[in-house]
Amino acid sequence: MGNNIVDKIYSLKQMRNAIILSHFYERPEIQDIGDFVGDSLELSRKAASTNADVIVFCGVHFMAETASILSPDKKVLLPNKSAGCPMADMAAYEEVKKLKERYPNAVVVSYINTTADVKTISDICCTSANAVKVINSIPLNKEIIFVPDKNLGNYVSKETGRKLILWQGYCNTHDRLTAEEVLLTKERYPYAKVVAHPECREEVIQLADGVFSTSGIIKYVGESEAKEFIICTEEGIIHQLEIRYPNKVFILPSNKLICPDMKKITLEDVFYSLENLRPEVKISDEVREKAIIPIKRMLDIK
Ligand code: 13P
Ligand code: SF4
Repeated sequence: MGNNIVDKIYSLKQMRNAIILSHFYERPEIQDIGDFVGDSLELSRKAASTNADVIVFCGVHFMAETASILSPDKKVLLPNKSAGCPMADMAAYEEVKKLKERYPNAVVVSYINTTADVKTISDICCTSANAVKVINSIPLNKEIIFVPDKNLGNYVSKETGRKLILWQGYCNTHDRLTAEEVLLTKERYPYAKVVAHPECREEVIQLADGVFSTSGIIKYVGESEAKEFIICTEEGIIHQLEIRYPNKVFILPSNKLICPDMKKITLEDVFYSLENLRPEVKISDEVREKAIIPIKRMLDIK
């Protein structure tokens, strides 16, 4: 389709009164066409507040679902319908329901990386940016079930001093990074600061100078005096870091920090999606009415 595919996307976008939302893990060329590039929390806030008629969600399935729950009158497109989140799929609705039945008084906190069905049986959602605040908002006498990320859950439990009933899910991309890989990288870059996403294993988190969501990592780098950073999260974020801080150096401690699902959407997919207004992600009213409750509770936490 040639180089002018970006121009074609822009004119279709105008014609459709569409907005393109992109996560920091998307391919660089997809981040570059985004009207807004952000972390999961910022993207859901944007999806809730936009005036566009069409939201082209360049992320993974649960993100498009969240956008559709928050903006039911808008058309939400996921340009590649097979872009999912393997971690979200580790918590099946029926299984979460069973766990909830075992702890009937527990508050169910679900990471935004869950299916809309799981959100219908959750009390409040969180993202990596607000997980500590969300847990701190729950009365001390309440038991808490945390679904699905055991690494984020473990990190938040340590930060808040709260005992959590943890689902045993994990993000394949983050969980495969080892402390050994980080230590070897630190030997090569002794002055570098180590920044990690809380989806990493505890052994990696322990080596980090800072632990943040993707936006938090970008902010930390911007505010730090350091010149070199070992980035323990999905490699897509390097593109944003290099645009924003061209004089700083970013090192990935492993060449395996790639989320295959976040890399699925191509410029061609975005073009076809805007042209044909599909694949659409649409949530039934029945699911939406319940799933919106935990999401709204989360968004109300400032
Ligand atoms: P954040 O952008 O919220 O840090 O989340 C990372 C992630 O893995 C999303 O799937
Ligand atoms: Fe899911 Fe991990 Fe990919 Fe995020 S990086 S979408 S948590 S698999």
